[in-house]
Amino acid sequence: MPHAIRIHQTGGPYVLSWDAVDLAAPAPGEARVRHHAVGLNYIDVYHRTGLYPVPLPSGIGLEGAGIVEAVGEGVDEVRVGDRVAYAGGPLGAYAEVRNIPAHRLLRLPDGIGFETGAAMMLQGLTAAYLLRRTFRVQAGDAVLIHAAAGGVGLLATQWAKALGALVIGTVGSPAKAALARAHGCDHVINYSTENFTARVREITGGEGVAVVYDGVGKDTFAGSLDSLRPMGMMVSYGNASGPVPPLDLIQLSQKGSLFVTRPTLMSYTAKRADLVALGDELFGVVGSGQVRVEVHQSYALKEAAQAHRDLEARKTTGSTLLLP
Ligand SMILES: NC(=O)c1ccc[n+]([C@@H]2O[C@H](COP(=O)([O-])OP(=O)(O)OC[C@H]3O[C@@H](n4cnc5c(N)ncnc54)[C@H](OP(=O)(O)O)[C@@H]3O)[C@@H](O)[C@H]2O)c1
Repeated sequence: MPHAIRIHQTGGPYVLSWDAVDLAAPAPGEARVRHHAVGLNYIDVYHRTGLYPVPLPSGIGLEGAGIVEAVGEGVDEVRVGDRVAYAGGPLGAYAEVRNIPAHRLLRLPDGIGFETGAAMMLQGLTAAYLLRRTFRVQAGDAVLIHAAAGGVGLLATQWAKALGALVIGTVGSPAKAALARAHGCDHVINYSTENFTARVREITGGEGVAVVYDGVGKDTFAGSLDSLRPMGMMVSYGNASGPVPPLDLIQLSQKGSLFVTRPTLMSYTAKRADLVALGDELFGVVGSGQVRVEVHQSYALKEAAQAHRDLEARKTTGSTLLLP
């Protein structure tokens, strides 16, 4: 029987259980994908801890790459033998093999291997919609990217630089600062030791940035609002440090008619046409070498608990894979 990591209760990494699972033939509209690599993402931690509740027991994981082994009735997006990758639900990517709605799958271009594919889909499509849809970054825009050495951060930093932005990144350590700088940050701020809001004002000559991409959440949200120029855009897209407390809207007026959005990849890729268009943009910048996808950590799939511990302890940089 194939194996998968499943959760039967929420809690620490110990709840990730390596289970033998039954796998039915793909239902109509589904494809069976044998994974060659699975992507690790911070959202997996939220599902495991219960911050984002899911009915239990449940699979876990939203990103993988592999080969289509079988298709159900009515599938025309992919064929048996295709090399594919995906980001998104339903949960269950931490598996050797799985069934998934075929409309979630993208065919991998020839030059992109399974490991790069699994590493780039969720974080790369996120960078794509954040920089190209939520707030369309233009040359000359000053942008602030938190956790710039992380999974989304390292991809977004390179992409923003390629778009001609002035990129300011925050990181939690000197080693991460060097990494962020090497990937295109014009200015790097260690927010563990420096007041990032004051530094952003200094760097932008008092003006503030056009947009903040904030996946850190609780610890940075207030400072992020204070880093914006008038009419600037606050993009709160994650909560690695904990959920953001409720916001009194009057603050947006007082701080200069600010915009706030709390987006998710799922809304931006719910329609297949949007998923394909965003995927094409991502494959384009990766294929041209403007954005390099870097896997800095790999773990055996059955060791997913250790990967979660390291991610939550801020020990990882770039992208992380789980290998079946
Ligand atoms: N809304 C969406 O569509 C969407 C999609 C993908 C990801 N996300 C969000 O984007 C964020 C980044 O995701 P990722 O998978 O690429 O993870 P990641 O950035 O590789 O890892 C999280 C990073 O957050 C920073 N961090 C700051 N305070 C932290 C704390 N108290 N605990 C843990 N980490 C902390 C750490 O970097 P430093 O040490 O440098 O501070 C850490 O490495 C997450 O919040 C995730 O949920 C949202």
